[in-house]
Amino acid sequence: MLFDRVKPLSAILRTAEKKSLHRSLGAFQLVMLGIGAIIGTGIFVLTAEAAQKAGPGMLLSFVIAGMVCAVAALCYSELASMCPVSGSAYTYTYAVMGELLAWVVGWALVLEYAVAAGAVAVGWSGYFVGLLKNLFGIEIPLALSAGPSQGGIVNLPAFLITLAVTALLVVGTRESAYFNAILVAVKVAALTIFIALAVPAINMQQFEPFAPLGFTGVSAAAASIFFAYVGFDAVSTAAEETKDPQRNMPIGLIGSLAICTIFYLIVASGVIGTVGAQPLLRADGTGIPPGSSELAEACKAAADQAVVCSKEALAWTLREIGWPQIGNLIGLAAGLALPSVVLMMMFGQTRIFFVMSRDGLLPERLSEVHPRYRTPHIITTLTGIVVALFAAFFPVGALADISNSGTLFAFAMVALAVLILRRTDPNRHRPFRTPAVNIVAPLAILGCVYLFFSLSAYTLALFAGWAVLGLVIYFTYSRHASHLGRGLVEVHEEDADVPPSPVPPI
Ligand code: ALA
Repeated sequence: MLFDRVKPLSAILRTAEKKSLHRSLGAFQLVMLGIGAIIGTGIFVLTAEAAQKAGPGMLLSFVIAGMVCAVAALCYSELASMCPVSGSAYTYTYAVMGELLAWVVGWALVLEYAVAAGAVAVGWSGYFVGLLKNLFGIEIPLALSAGPSQGGIVNLPAFLITLAVTALLVVGTRESAYFNAILVAVKVAALTIFIALAVPAINMQQFEPFAPLGFTGVSAAAASIFFAYVGFDAVSTAAEETKDPQRNMPIGLIGSLAICTIFYLIVASGVIGTVGAQPLLRADGTGIPPGSSELAEACKAAADQAVVCSKEALAWTLREIGWPQIGNLIGLAAGLALPSVVLMMMFGQTRIFFVMSRDGLLPERLSEVHPRYRTPHIITTLTGIVVALFAAFFPVGALADISNSGTLFAFAMVALAVLILRRTDPNRHRPFRTPAVNIVAPLAILGCVYLFFSLSAYTLALFAGWAVLGLVIYFTYSRHASHLGRGLVEVHEEDADVPPSPVPPI
């Protein structure tokens, strides 16, 4: 009874056919699209959090998280290419495993997108505050630049940037292809400059001890730094616009992940080898949790002279090794580029809510489209306010971890869905097939489960609370209101989701 409501894949595919976008993207454009969506707060900010959890061993964490993403991405692409419509993992699960699990996945995706948008906004705030201070001598007091757990009251810059991005989304701003290309260039240039200045100054002694908190620390850092790779699903959702997807999708996905991994490893080595990345420890030798008031106190005692205390790790590192102006320039690059990551995440969130409400699982009024701007303005505004509140009161690492819990859950479900669909519907056309699926999909599931359980107990408890809340809403409201449950199977004239930012053909 519980798992009986499966949305027919053919209805989803007919929606997709109505959309039928022009196939114009090649491998290079996909790689660019991926890099644009991937590089953000993860490397610019969370490097400090990862150092606090794993020390130099965070290098291993980057590799582990990248590999889990690579196998998850290969699975994701099979479903994305089969049903390239709005709602990504939520829609795929609806077609394969039924409404209840689809709801759970959609509910988890709220964590992925909305909470991630909050995390990136807080990451942006760290760079913005640092830039104001170092460039113009304007100091925003801690009370107005950090949430309560870090000794402040409210993170005002993070709150305001989220509202600004919300306003842009309501009036229908999408990242244009050219804008994305420029931002990719800005981010890659910033990381390249960092590498060029930091790597020659590396002192190998800084890599010792390599893993002061053991493999547990490395795993915990991998679970957090996973955030640095999130966003590659932008590549999967462009499957329908891709020329020869069987060849180009894996190149786009693995290519962008590989390039980001290499950048991340060299940048992280630059941080470790120059300013050191040893965690601040308690007297008994255990690590202090990042984002906690305890760490804020320890940092105060150390006069903030450790990268793990910095909210703008890369800019701080360059200032420390004698390049203050270039450090500011890196801050400027992050300040310019991160809001676009917030925009992409919030866009993804509103589209998932949109589809869930169109399916009747959330109130239909939410998906009302603005008469002038043609955007789902109600859901966008509501999402924006909630994300702004997250950003105002929570530290970046906690938000990133919560977001990761939702993402890892959704990716594991997608990998499972791929395996199930190969058995239940083996002959359906798959524009892209996961290579060696019987190895890759189980590896993706195992990898996601491993990282999921490497998150802190606090994060897992929040995830469980969120899931319970979701189930209560499902059984008290959504199950009765569901269109499918009421016998309606719709083919929509228009699909809400246009992949966020295909890069221009060159
Ligand atoms: N991967 C994106 C970032 O690091 C979400 O900001």
